[in-house]
Amino acid sequence: MTDHRDSLKNRADRVLAPVLSHRASFDVAHATGSRLTTTTGRELLDFSTGIACINLGHNHPAVASSVASQLDHLWHGGWGTYRYESLIDAAESVVNVTPQSIEQIVFLNSGAEAVEAAMKLARQSTDRPCVVTFRGGFHGRTMGSVSYTTSKAEYRKGYHPLLSSVFVTPFPHPFEWGVSQDTADEMALASLDQLFKHDAMPGEVAALLIEPMQGEGGYYPASTNFLSELRSFADEHGILLVFDEVQTGFGRTGDWFLAQVLGVEPDILVMGKAIANGLPLSAIGASTKRFEGWLPGSHGSTFGGNPVSCAAASANIANLRDVIPGVEDRSSRAFQRFSEMQAENRIIGDIRGLGLMIGIELVNSDGKPSKELFEDVYKEAEADGLFILPCGPNGNVIRFIPPLNVSNEDLDKALDILEDAISTTQQAAT
Ligand SMILES: Cc1ncc(COP(=O)(O)O)c(C=O)c1O
Repeated sequence: MTDHRDSLKNRADRVLAPVLSHRASFDVAHATGSRLTTTTGRELLDFSTGIACINLGHNHPAVASSVASQLDHLWHGGWGTYRYESLIDAAESVVNVTPQSIEQIVFLNSGAEAVEAAMKLARQSTDRPCVVTFRGGFHGRTMGSVSYTTSKAEYRKGYHPLLSSVFVTPFPHPFEWGVSQDTADEMALASLDQLFKHDAMPGEVAALLIEPMQGEGGYYPASTNFLSELRSFADEHGILLVFDEVQTGFGRTGDWFLAQVLGVEPDILVMGKAIANGLPLSAIGASTKRFEGWLPGSHGSTFGGNPVSCAAASANIANLRDVIPGVEDRSSRAFQRFSEMQAENRIIGDIRGLGLMIGIELVNSDGKPSKELFEDVYKEAEADGLFILPCGPNGNVIRFIPPLNVSNEDLDKALDILEDAISTTQQAAT
């Protein structure tokens, strides 16, 4: 007997390369808001949000209607060929919500591509060769972007040599290092000093490339203090401070961008994921002056700024305006419940994050990270109707990333399921 699941799996195994694997034990037929329906008719809360892309939830009606209307007008043009309205609308919408320093936009397709473009802009416009990145950062999987990615060594395995003149320095990880945030900041800044003393002259560095909150690397937010120190250092040496906000952007952390939450301005902002609520689009933004240093024709893209994705982006941004002010309440509700869970469950080693980008780190009785604990929690949660993803180099951090407009009912239901899953896992572990 072959059920639908088996036939999809068998077909996938024949034609899809195994390098890409699927976490879920189910296949999805359709999805709306924070819920998905499997091919066997089960409904689950989808707190993976398509890896932090659908901040307004699945199939948001305003985004869907903007997309449908754009399809009637123009669905491909290419920004190297001619202008079209949805491209300009989307650029205006994005520039309206980015930090002050960001005045112009270049649209691309994916986060990795945007990171590469940001580094090309930084290198060409400063005429400097080197880039400094922060250990645990994730910036994508293309050959260029994976050279900046150090969230897991596995992502680089078999691909060396990568880009040269990329220097990696520690990102403050207070929980991992067993110290306070202030001490972690001091330690990371001391390492950066060492880097500039021994490895690369500041005058040869084009950019400091940082996620202001590490995503794939385990949901570690940087402090305002740390980023301000980087800002001052960059200003002093003519280095560009580049924020990769591919995962943190578009309301995820309680404001449009984490730069605004933490009060530190980047020179270049990298955006992707939630920019068009799940349609493929990414962007880099910088000042007009900075873009003057990027020579016309020295970058391009066939699909970047696709008319349909741009229409989705404008509708997405218009609708996020009313949603973002509610993020803080939902966030406090979740943080409150997680600290109650931590008081009852020693497997919760750390709770961290901002807004609705929350990481719950699961640890063994010796305080060591445990992937097995995550997998047990995952299975329980999935069986009870909640789909979540892990993050962190050890695969032991629960990523809690609901749609930003999740109802209180669905939020509470997800928290109840997680609480049960965590306490069942904890009981089994003792
Ligand atoms: C911070 C960050 N930068 C870049 C990327 C790469 O984006 P993409 O997968 O769209 O290439 C990701 C993806 O997870 C990300 O989280």
